Amino acid sequence: MTPDVEARKRAAAEAAVALVKEGNIVGLGTGSTAKYAILKLGDMAQDGFEVRGVPTSIATANLAKEHGIPLTSLEEFPEIDLTIDGADEVDPHLDMIKGMGGALFREKLVAAASKTVAIAVDASKLVKTLGSRVPVPVEVHPFGWKVSKARLQALGGAPQLRLAGGVTYRTDNDNYVLDTRFKAIRDPAALEREMNNVPGVVDNGLFVGVATVVLVADAKGVKARKR
Ligand code: 5RP
Repeated sequence: MTPDVEARKRAAAEAAVALVKEGNIVGLGTGSTAKYAILKLGDMAQDGFEVRGVPTSIATANLAKEHGIPLTSLEEFPEIDLTIDGADEVDPHLDMIKGMGGALFREKLVAAASKTVAIAVDASKLVKTLGSRVPVPVEVHPFGWKVSKARLQALGGAPQLRLAGGVTYRTDNDNYVLDTRFKAIRDPAALEREMNNVPGVVDNGLFVGVATVVLVADAKGVKARKR
């Protein structure tokens, strides 16, 4: 990553943190952009700002603990004030692909529980059509994953089992990920539903109608795009 991209990720994430109010329950996203939000919130918490976080992954929980953010859970707070997360692609309707970091299942649940979902991205994540750059990560149960794979192919996808260090990648939920390329995703809402109807699919990385606001950072600064 160039220093510019890192600075933009940080600027977008910090603009999202500016939406947090004292006493809020905050969903903590996963990835290299969400990390900057966690660092900023951690500084604020250590200065006495009252906030509790609901992490979307084990990595995020560890980072948040390290930086002094008190953690809670969906069990304790099934309603979250604000979630801050990143994205892999964002289209003009603010629909997204997420999950290249593997946390899509928990990210979607935490977002679903949130009154406001603030997404922080650098401008390179903006696309006209979802699927232009990245595949859709699909979390599948390991039992019978090849059946799920064949059904995703029947939907027009080209699924590939995600590997990490030469072995099958496992999510925090101990599932597999099928990174599934599509030629063009014309109707993300329909495809999101169809993929979640495939037996063995736990959830998929199309996030349609989820973002409340997307904070986009480019060379000129950060702009908010609202649904
Ligand atoms: C993790 C995600 C991330 O939000 C997404 O991959 C973006 O990550 P980054 O900010 O590192 O580019 O969905 O599951």
